[in-house]
Amino acid sequence: MIRAENLGKRFGDRAAVEALDLEVAPGEVFGLLGPNGAGKTTTVRMLTSLIAPTAGRAWVNGHAIGADDAAVRRSVGVLTEVPGLYARLTAAENLRFFGRLHSLDDLDARIRRFLTLLGLWERRDDRAGSFSKGMRQKLAIARTLLHDPPVVFLDEPTAALDPSAARVVRDFIAGLRDAGRAIVLCTHNLDEAQRLCNRIAIMQRTILKVGTAETLRAELAGDQLVVTIREVTPAARAAVVGGVGDAALTEVDGRFAIATAAPDALAPGLVRALVAAGADVLRVEVERPSLEAVYLDLVGEAAPADAEDAL
Ligand SMILES: Nc1ncnc2c1ncn2[C@@H]1O[C@H](COP(=O)(O)OP(=O)(O)OP(=O)(O)O)[C@@H](O)[C@H]1O
Ligand SMILES: [Mg+2]
Repeated sequence: MIRAENLGKRFGDRAAVEALDLEVAPGEVFGLLGPNGAGKTTTVRMLTSLIAPTAGRAWVNGHAIGADDAAVRRSVGVLTEVPGLYARLTAAENLRFFGRLHSLDDLDARIRRFLTLLGLWERRDDRAGSFSKGMRQKLAIARTLLHDPPVVFLDEPTAALDPSAARVVRDFIAGLRDAGRAIVLCTHNLDEAQRLCNRIAIMQRTILKVGTAETLRAELAGDQLVVTIREVTPAARAAVVGGVGDAALTEVDGRFAIATAAPDALAPGLVRALVAAGADVLRVEVERPSLEAVYLDLVGEAAPADAEDAL
């Protein structure tokens, strides 16, 4: 439903996006993660025909960007970083204006449905300019979806929202996914990405790695078996080292952490050895590296890709 091949965008002599390949299927939420300035918004703007790529090709809902731009725009709903609402129009008028641009039928019913879903129906006759940041964001989300687009791009949809509103929007996105939409979600919220996205791409100018949250995490370092005992005695330590050697072992405050590809095979013997050595075993756990660890491993903890002066 979305496909990009070798897509690129240069602004002057700066490459914002380079050699980007991706494919998003109907019923899929595809997450774009990356540091500030990584090119996420630029990618979204190219795939929605808002700006022209300087390299490569892409198709959205079967329409080629650059050739079939009007059809691309009809196929997509896009929530941009800046909501771009008319401050002097009311919530309902904003949606009506947008609906007329798309020549939508049953417009009043659509407006009512989306404003109700997002908790703004009571405020439908208030000017958008009088709304809080989060309310504007919700109104912009309503506008994004008003024409039932098969392909949806959401650039940080929950960034301005309180926890319960963010939850409403996340459930909403899950509903869109289950209804067979293809969704691209840019987010800095790793937990959100993990919960919502079928696949996650970590990008910095290009896609560094793509996979499910599970496969991304499994690729890094692998699992650790963590055994916590009440008190580390020389006998307990000897039992652990005797069982697993000390190569893959770290020991912190009564916890032994052992990197292993097969925690289930290791755990029973290790616990038996510890008990035989007189240790009180409090917990046996398997820890996987977090998505955050994977992200930091790929993009580093260094300064943002594009450190800018204060505006
Ligand atoms: N209109 C423009 N003119 C010049 N440079 C631009 C323009 N738009 C984006 N850029 C540059 O392209 C790069 C990528 O920006 P982009 O907005 O795509 O990043 P992003 O991943 O969305 O970051 P953020 O997480 O901060 O939203 C940056 O270096 C930015 O300065
Ligand atoms: Mg952005």
